Amino acid sequence: MNNLSIPNNDWDAALYEDKHAFVWQYGDDLLKFLNPKPGESILDLGCGTGQLTEKIAQAGVQVIGVDHAPTMIEKARENYPHIHFDIADATNFQVDKRLDAVFSNAVLHWVKEADSAIASIHQSLKPGGRFVAEFGGKGNVQAIATALETALEAFNISTQARNPWYFPSIGEYATLLEQQGFDVIHAMLFARPTPLAEGEAGMANWIQMFASTFLAGLSSKQQIQVIRAVEEYLKPTLYQQGTWTADYRRIRIVAIKL
Ligand code: BEZ
Repeated sequence: MNNLSIPNNDWDAALYEDKHAFVWQYGDDLLKFLNPKPGESILDLGCGTGQLTEKIAQAGVQVIGVDHAPTMIEKARENYPHIHFDIADATNFQVDKRLDAVFSNAVLHWVKEADSAIASIHQSLKPGGRFVAEFGGKGNVQAIATALETALEAFNISTQARNPWYFPSIGEYATLLEQQGFDVIHAMLFARPTPLAEGEAGMANWIQMFASTFLAGLSSKQQIQVIRAVEEYLKPTLYQQGTWTADYRRIRIVAIKL
């Protein structure tokens, strides 16, 4: 068993890069939908440590990467000093000059104020500009969330207020986009079971990185008890041959500003 330390402050950029590389590796697919062209100006919203921002830059694009976590931006700047990175919040960012595209991979499921994010994206684009995004959609990590809920019941903790995620259906998200002046030209919801790194420790690492709000206020010992209980619940379905798999479901959207 690995030792657990649950971070309760900002994103741990080193842990993210070290053990969760699948986040941007799966983003390669989404880049095909973005289809960046030389000379375009593109914003990477929620760029993390910058791997996909760099791939966009390779297409001869003027790219800016933004993320709300200072630790991520610091690491992104260290990784790719030739690229412009800034700290910004998805719900209220502004740009100096309107963009050809806003790209966002694996971020918008953290943004419960979807309306505000869509308004910021809309005002940052040129007319005809495109918004290309992928994130957790309806039913995402349902088994993990249910296991956390069940494990926390033992401590009389309800998870509703602790759940930081927003996993919309296509109908819900497309409607929000249309209401704010986008034409949705592509929308897809699909299962993408995602193997986690680090063998037996994979689920504990994932919870540490992405679900720590569920464990807030518990002692270290209680946190470990919850994680072990979650592992027990999930083992029959999500652990096979030494590897944990997260039950991801992605929503992928391409929308054009009218
Ligand atoms: C996701 O990429 O779907 C995801 C990541 C962290 C927490 C929840 C979902």
